[in-house]
Amino acid sequence: MSEKAVGPGGAAPTVIDTSVAHIARVYDYFLGGKDNFPADREAAARILKGNPGMRDTCREQREFLRRAVRFLTRAGIRQFIDIGTGLPTQENTHEVAQAIAPEARVAYIDNDPIVLAHARVLMADQDHGRTVFIHADARDPQALLAEPTLRSVIDFDEPVAVLLIGILHFMPDHDQPGELIRALLDAVPAGSYLAASHGTPDFAPEIGGAVQAAYQASSMPCRVRTAAEVMTLLECVELVDPGLVLLAEWRPDGPVPADRQRITYAAVGRKR
Ligand SMILES: C[S@@+](CC[C@H](N)C(=O)[O-])C[C@H]1O[C@@H](n2cnc3c(N)ncnc32)[C@H](O)[C@@H]1O
Repeated sequence: MSEKAVGPGGAAPTVIDTSVAHIARVYDYFLGGKDNFPADREAAARILKGNPGMRDTCREQREFLRRAVRFLTRAGIRQFIDIGTGLPTQENTHEVAQAIAPEARVAYIDNDPIVLAHARVLMADQDHGRTVFIHADARDPQALLAEPTLRSVIDFDEPVAVLLIGILHFMPDHDQPGELIRALLDAVPAGSYLAASHGTPDFAPEIGGAVQAAYQASSMPCRVRTAAEVMTLLECVELVDPGLVLLAEWRPDGPVPADRQRITYAAVGRKR
């Protein structure tokens, strides 16, 4: 089964394969969205067997994204490259940043055509030239960095925040997530930031392993990593307090719930 989505302004139609589960649509399902299909919901059911708290994990990840973007905007960052955007939901990166600094600019990047179709609609509403969406693959950072649309909104002479939230664990080792981070951080000046989250087996090995296996069984790549492995990925930045912690523990707005999810790390680091 496939669907055609047409972007506004006569943008080329995008063919969307709904017969296999897609990471963005499964995530949308976990967040209570409506942009998912039977294959996505079947995959989600398999993942929920491995981690019944998966909906909370995804919600905590969105909350981390919002807190991180607020922190970065308050720290003076006015440009964001948000890689692995996902489907538009509540309080997307540009909305959070522009609520604090209306001049903030955001380049969204994702390789899923359904994200592209929805993002075009979202951006059409409020595009004042400060927000763009680029259909590109994080596994080819040089091509991504050469994108003229990216260069049209991001000034690589000024500090940038690179967001890699909920994407790195979908890059197995052969996709070289470390190379992606190095290439991006090499392209931005000192004073730039990286915000990332990453699935881990450290606290609940059975759950971490079951989630990884469930994604893989539904043809989605997945590789959870230990704290040491994640720290190696993040070695080109200096982590701000509180360092590498669970999602809900990163600069929480209130008391951290005792039943917080324990399968995903969060961190924000600054390029020296
Ligand atoms: C779980 S969602 C995360 C969404 C958002 N960053 C958040 O934290 O709420 C992961 C996103 O990464 C995208 N993605 C996965 N692999 C990718 C790749 N190699 N290149 C670009 N995007 C990718 C998926 O399509 C999906 O939209």
